[in-house]
Amino acid sequence: MDELVRYDGPVQGTTRLTAADVTFDDITVRRGDAVTVLFQAANRDPDYFEHPDELLLDRSPNKHLGYGWGTHACLGTTVAQRVLLALVGALANHPGLLRPAGPARRRRTATMRAFDDLPVTLQP
Ligand code: HEM
Repeated sequence: MDELVRYDGPVQGTTRLTAADVTFDDITVRRGDAVTVLFQAANRDPDYFEHPDELLLDRSPNKHLGYGWGTHACLGTTVAQRVLLALVGALANHPGLLRPAGPARRRRTATMRAFDDLPVTLQP
């Protein structure tokens, strides 16, 4: 489940207000400026993850940022992991096969990644 969230997690990034002036290389971000950080860019960082653009379900370790990090990290991480595990487990144990039943349509949002349409069939 963690690899799915690393590879194509629903929360791409978030915006924070800078608490104090801070300089990275030659860029200074002023106190009060809004900064959008992209968790999912970090999750594909080739300096951190080997073969970052491959979905490797047994990837270990897998310290991704799909649930954020620090003070405002996702409060629902454990719930989300359990629900995803139950969902994928139920589909894997179902006698039917899950198949695409039409074109998927991504929702066009800046920082959340989701589908508007994802038609599927579940047939024996
Ligand atoms: C796959 C499912 C989920 C993913 C990938 C996810 C990811 C995230 C991320 C990236 C953040 C922002 C962290 C930050 O701003 O630093 C967040 C915040 C949050 N999430 Fe989730 N989340 C998921 C499901 C859930 C569920 C099921 C719940 C509740 C049961 C939940 C409750 C929250 C709350 C309350 C926050 C705000 C925490 C704060 O601002 O202090 N999340 N989540």
